[in-house]
Amino acid sequence: MSNQLLSLQEYSTQAEELVNSIGIPSQPKVLMEVNKEINSPDASFSSVAEIISRDVSMSAKVLKVVNSAIFGLSENVDSIDRALAMMGLKNFNKIILTSSLREALGSFPGVEDFWSHSMAVATIAYYVAAKTGFQEPEQAYTAGLFHDCGVPYLAKKYKDYPELAEHALSVVHSDALSGATKSVIGVEDERYKTHHCAVGYVVAKSWNLSPAVHKSIWYHHYVHLNIHENDTVKKLSAILILSDYIGSHIHYIGGGNCPVEQEASWAESHPEVMAELQLQVMDIKDMREDLEEKIMNLT
Ligand SMILES: [Fe+2]
Ligand SMILES: [Fe+2]
Repeated sequence: MSNQLLSLQEYSTQAEELVNSIGIPSQPKVLMEVNKEINSPDASFSSVAEIISRDVSMSAKVLKVVNSAIFGLSENVDSIDRALAMMGLKNFNKIILTSSLREALGSFPGVEDFWSHSMAVATIAYYVAAKTGFQEPEQAYTAGLFHDCGVPYLAKKYKDYPELAEHALSVVHSDALSGATKSVIGVEDERYKTHHCAVGYVVAKSWNLSPAVHKSIWYHHYVHLNIHENDTVKKLSAILILSDYIGSHIHYIGGGNCPVEQEASWAESHPEVMAELQLQVMDIKDMREDLEEKIMNLT
C-alpha cells in the first residue's frame, strides 16, 4: 500500500454499501451464544456442547475444522463433546469462529487459495503472538483469520476481481513497496472505489470483533505503525503484518533453504514492525522455518 493515510470514514461508507449489497450473513447467532457462554463465570463443556449440537450444520463444520491438519490431533474426533474435551474452551472458540466464517462466506472464485492463506495467517499470528509476548494470542488468531475477508466480497461482486485476488492475498509478489507499481489496494481503489482492507474492516465490525482486530485489518497492508496510539492495536498490527508476510512467503516462495536476503529486504522495508516486535532478520527466518511444515499441511 502506498504510504498515504487512508480515511476510515471515507472508505468505510463505500465498503459498507458493498457489504450490504452482497448480503453475506454477519456473525451467526450460535457464535454469539457460545461466546457468551464461554465468557460466563460458570461456563461448562456440556452447556457449550449443547448450544453447538442444536445446530447440525455448524456441528459438522466444527468437526471438519477440528479434524483438519491445523490442530494436529492424533485421533479423529467425531463428537462435539469429545472435541471440547480435547481442545479446551479457549481453543474451541477459535474453531467456532473459523467454522462460522467459512459457513458465512460460502463459495466464491478462488475460495481454496483464500482459505489456505487465511488459515495459515491465523495460525502464524497465534504463534508470533505467543513468541513475542502478546497478551491475547487468540485475538491475533482472529485478526489473521479475518484479515483478508474483504476479498470474497469483492470476488462475489466483481467478475474481474479474481485476477487481483492473488495479489491481495500476497504481500510477497507486490512490487508496491519499492514504488515500482501501484499496490493492490491502489488498484482496487481505482476500480471499485474501495479495497479489501476497508471491506474486511466493515465485516469484522459487523461480527463484533474487538476494535483492535478491526483496526489491524484496516491497516494490514500499511507499513507504518506510528499512526496507532493504542499499544494493543500497534502490537497486533505488527503481528498481523509480519504473519501475512510469513504466510505469503511460505505459500508463494516455498521454504527449505530460501536465502535470508528475502527476509532481510522485507525487514528493511518494515523497520517499525521489527522494532515493535523486537525482532532481528534471523528471528523471522527461524520462525518461518519453524512454521513451514505446519502451514504446508493446512487444507
Ligand atoms: Fe490483504
Ligand atoms: Fe493476506
